[in-house]
Amino acid sequence: MLIAPSMLACDFRRIGEEAQRALAAGADWLHLDVMDGSFVDNISFGPDICAAIRKSVSEEAFLDAHLMIDAPDHYLPRFLAAKMDMITIHVEREGEVDLHATLRAIREGGARCGLAINPATPVEALMPYLEEVDMFLVMSVVPGFGGQSFMPHVLDKVRELSRLREARGLRFLVQMDGGIGPAQAPLCREAGADCLVAGSSTFRAPDMAAAISSMK
Ligand code: DX5
Ligand code: ZN
Repeated sequence: MLIAPSMLACDFRRIGEEAQRALAAGADWLHLDVMDGSFVDNISFGPDICAAIRKSVSEEAFLDAHLMIDAPDHYLPRFLAAKMDMITIHVEREGEVDLHATLRAIREGGARCGLAINPATPVEALMPYLEEVDMFLVMSVVPGFGGQSFMPHVLDKVRELSRLREARGLRFLVQMDGGIGPAQAPLCREAGADCLVAGSSTFRAPDMAAAISSMK
């Protein structure tokens, strides 16, 4: 199980040191939540802060950018320039953004591509993309804020993705994000998730290394 602490829950006054602290505590990836105040009801940080985080950690550290923004296609070159390893966009922008082209552009830019789905969106929305993505991100809270409660009904989507992956011989990862701590990790695993994003339960734990290892 890969654990990806969300930088949204860190102390923004010392964001570079917080990134280093998470890696030293055993984080597999760092998860960077980018919010534009339009796609979600919050504003976090953009490509310049992502680039600053990249400069604070080693080149090998795996940086996972979750773009909760209206125009991922327009801003994509800036996130590629910030040397993100994974760039995830939202399926809810289908119709407004050419998602097939954007996913392809992420890959051509040298990153892996992910497609996220909100709790209210049915899993069928992901079907056209099964063979085009490196990872699906199943949101277990309505995106916008850290510290919300896990919504267990989304586990059905994880089960369905994991079934399709097996049935069709595909290799995508399944990530879950929102309200996840040691109590939820076994449910996520049993449903077929490979990577868990955890903000509050890692950065705000009294002992981050213990929190990460108990989720693993
Ligand atoms: C929610 C973000 C999450 C969030 C997770 O919009 O995508 O990554 O920060 O935080 P916790 O683990 O506190 O729910
Ligand atoms: Zn996220």
